[in-house]
Amino acid sequence: MGLRNTPERYGSVAQALHWLVVLLLTGQVAVGKIADGMPDGFDKLVLLARHKSVGITILALAVIRLAWRLIDRPPPPPPMPRWQLLASRATHWGFYALLFALPLSGWMMSSASNYPVSWFGLAQLPDLVAPDRDLKHLLEEVHETLVGALIALALLHVAAALKHHFLDRDGLLWRMLPWRAR
Ligand code: HEM
Ligand code: HEM
Repeated sequence: MGLRNTPERYGSVAQALHWLVVLLLTGQVAVGKIADGMPDGFDKLVLLARHKSVGITILALAVIRLAWRLIDRPPPPPPMPRWQLLASRATHWGFYALLFALPLSGWMMSSASNYPVSWFGLAQLPDLVAPDRDLKHLLEEVHETLVGALIALALLHVAAALKHHFLDRDGLLWRMLPWRAR
């Protein structure tokens, strides 16, 4: 399989970015929910520091991924009704928007609560906004709402992928998998 997309399938760069981000996002949502349920204290700070570092990693991957998406055109979609085509486009671009909005809202939230964001203790990132309690609470709501949007889109996206695979049997799932269609 080549690095670049072909008219039949996604290339290994797009596939690697897709599945790596799926993996990181899954862990990220789990760790965020766990941290959210913890009492304030050292353990929570440690977990949140990891949450922030992984979140910033996702932001960097989003930049790379969007750039690659603009350079390497995706394979044309298989034949399907127009409404499904529009829904898939909206879902995919919604995902790209969330890959930026989620980490940026988290980063702004941390700055607003006067916690500097570090990337695995290796680099300290600049504060995006000045400390501000009200803004912090607002951004907490925004962050949580965006997580809800991510989960809703992911459910829709996976349902669509499984429909293509098992009902339409149009080979769409294979386009994003490293193995060849049978
Ligand atoms: C990249 C994708 C990200 C996802 C999917 C994500 C997901 C989550 C989730 C699910 C929660 C728990 C919210 C709740 O249920 O109330 C949370 C909380 C939080 N996230 Fe993120 N997050 C991301 C990125 C970031 C980044 C980059 C930062 C900061 C640099 C960050 C900072 C926080 C903070 C401070 C909390 C609040 C935890 C608490 O005080 O209870 N997040 N996040
Ligand atoms: C939160 C998790 C996920 C996110 C954020 C996500 C995001 C995306 C995005 C943005 C695309 C469009 C790629 C492009 O052309 O630029 C895509 C395509 C695709 N995704 Fe996901 N995805 C997720 C989970 C999954 C899962 C779990 C599956 C498998 C059931 C899956 C299967 C696919 C397939 C088959 C395609 C290619 C569709 C086509 O051939 O046009 N995705 N995904």
